[in-house]
Amino acid sequence: KFEKIWLIFGIISLIVFLSIVGVTAFSHDHHPSGGMDTIDPEKIEQTAPFDNPGVTQIDDDTYQVAIVAMAFGYTAPELRVPAGKEIIFKVTSKDVVHSFTIDDTKVNMMVVPGQITTRAYTFEKPGKYLILCNEYCGTGHHFMFTEIEVY
Ligand code: CUA
Repeated sequence: KFEKIWLIFGIISLIVFLSIVGVTAFSHDHHPSGGMDTIDPEKIEQTAPFDNPGVTQIDDDTYQVAIVAMAFGYTAPELRVPAGKEIIFKVTSKDVVHSFTIDDTKVNMMVVPGQITTRAYTFEKPGKYLILCNEYCGTGHHFMFTEIEVY
């Protein structure tokens, strides 16, 4: 008789344990701030912040820059951001692995399809900075550059 009770107790514990694991995994999967965010490469244009690419002011001291990388270039309208403010770059790729590298800065992000790479950076000096791809990505590689103006 006692064995039966212990068996039932064991099964219940197992179910409880498995559901906790399941719930934890589920909430991790869906936590927007949990590390690297994922994105469906087919739906980039419909997914924030890439539905509105380019520079967006978030508050007095923070700006966000959303950019999509793909062979032959970065899709971003004119990029102009102020010096001395925190700029949060959010970059994803439509096709293969690229990089998002800003010359003369420490910004050197790996851009992977299906993921959103985020990097915050504050420009100290105004000027024009070259943005380029450091990761060989095929025939379009040498065409992958653009510019960001810091004022
Ligand atoms: Cu993209 Cu090289």
